[in-house]
Amino acid sequence: MAYEQVPHHIAIVMDGNGRWANKRFLPRIAGHRQGVESLKRCAKACDARGVRVLTVFAFSSENWKRPTEEVSGLMDLFAMALMREVNQLKAAGVQLRFVGDRRGLSPRVLRSMEEGEAATAGNSRLILNACFNYGGRWDIAQAARKVAEQGLPLNEDNLNSAMALAHVPDPDLLIRTGGEHRMSNFLLWQGAYSEFFFTDVLWPDFDEAALDQAITSFAQRERRFGMTSDQLDGEPASTGER
Ligand code: IPE
Ligand code: IPE
Ligand code: MG
Repeated sequence: MAYEQVPHHIAIVMDGNGRWANKRFLPRIAGHRQGVESLKRCAKACDARGVRVLTVFAFSSENWKRPTEEVSGLMDLFAMALMREVNQLKAAGVQLRFVGDRRGLSPRVLRSMEEGEAATAGNSRLILNACFNYGGRWDIAQAARKVAEQGLPLNEDNLNSAMALAHVPDPDLLIRTGGEHRMSNFLLWQGAYSEFFFTDVLWPDFDEAALDQAITSFAQRERRFGMTSDQLDGEPASTGER
């Protein structure tokens, strides 16, 4: 049977910036700075390979627990990178979307987010979802609240439409760099049937070759979605009760 060759939607836990910096006796923020460069390279490479949606974990709801200096460094870096890159993103046809809880973010960060989104709203070549102050549990809880406020039944379809990533299909491939094998509260709902790829490569070192390794691994997998291999090969689906 023909497996999908290129994932339509790739999601990434960009982990390992701190260790990348530590290895070089640099401050952790230098690793985050290099992480931004790595994201630019990755977005370009995804576009060139025909990926249409890239969702990255940039700051988790739990990352506030880090030392204040690192948190404020990350906020500064984020706002600055956005201002610096927005014209290039716009020219490259990237539609930038921010996914996460906007409460608690500084007016400056919020402004760069809104400007980035507005400037790129007309683009459709590659959707780049930046998960910032995001947590999978937050997303499920906010979706449930929204559905309840609308007075709708709390079922899967209604929750799906209220989730923060309702504008894109679920991720096909979920990559985590940096050697840890966990979700860390990333796409808990949307990752139900994602293929996982874990690599020890630290995020700042994640290059085109590393991306190709993940895509090649994805292309060799059989996604069964609960069915049997035979069914996927064209056998008629069960008409049994469900
Ligand atoms: C991921 O890199 C980036 C963010 C969480 C913002 P880390 O900062 O977690 O790097 P390590 O895991 O400490 O190496
Ligand atoms: C996950 O990485 C969050 C981001 C990459 C933004 P962490 O480094 O925060 O995850 P843990 O703490 O190792 O689980
Ligand atoms: Mg980490």
